[in-house]
Amino acid sequence: MISELPVKKIEKFVKNETKHTESVIHDFSHLKRTAIGARWFVKIMDGNKHDQYLAYIAGLLHDIVRPPFEEICHAKASSEKSREILNRFDISNEDRERIIEAVSCHRTRHEWKDALHQSVFLADKILEQMGAMIVFRRCMYIGECKDYLGKTSIQSIIIQSRNKLKKFTPCEFNKIFLRLARAQYKWPHDFTKALKEKKQWALDIGMYFFKAGRDKKDFEKTVFGYKPQIKEQKQIHKQAVLYLKSRKFKDFEKLI
Ligand SMILES: [Fe+2]
Ligand SMILES: [Fe+2]
Repeated sequence: MISELPVKKIEKFVKNETKHTESVIHDFSHLKRTAIGARWFVKIMDGNKHDQYLAYIAGLLHDIVRPPFEEICHAKASSEKSREILNRFDISNEDRERIIEAVSCHRTRHEWKDALHQSVFLADKILEQMGAMIVFRRCMYIGECKDYLGKTSIQSIIIQSRNKLKKFTPCEFNKIFLRLARAQYKWPHDFTKALKEKKQWALDIGMYFFKAGRDKKDFEKTVFGYKPQIKEQKQIHKQAVLYLKSRKFKDFEKLI
């Protein structure tokens, strides 16, 4: 695909800008995966090529301001910074505003406008905050999150997971994504349940990734380097790695 939009230039700029990101689980790899996911959602909703590129750019920018705590509305902060960044590039006013809107609306469900408008929200929630990968990602977040400093690791993971599972149930999403959201929801749901039941395989994952977050380790490297020992750990790890390598989209398509 060739675009008249300066996609590569913006991506290079964002990569450079996020070299020393404040939150390791919101690093450039998260932005890039969300960009790929947002573009995919626009494509499967029959959005045109131009909107697919805009969704990709919005995904790259959506957490451009993302500290490891929840005190500020990072969607608002990111949309303001996105405007500053986009003003550096040759991009029409209409395209810029549509990108910014997708960035500012990525945290909660909004009234449906078009595929682009929903794309970052869908990619961030269904692909990045659910699925096998979130089992590792969330544990790392609790490790690095300032809101949980001084609190017990496993209990904090359970509290955060429970809140997220309650906030975004599969029914929250458009009906066409129900099967995908259900399949994705199952991973954090089952993991949280196992943690509550004090299953050793889950406790081991919790402790390992919590520590990696506290030590501010690189997220993808930590997942790729993790050596699962127990059947459940191996299943989660296998699926998480496939997703991180962008090899889950064919499976996702079958669920739409
Ligand atoms: Fe976000
Ligand atoms: Fe995000």
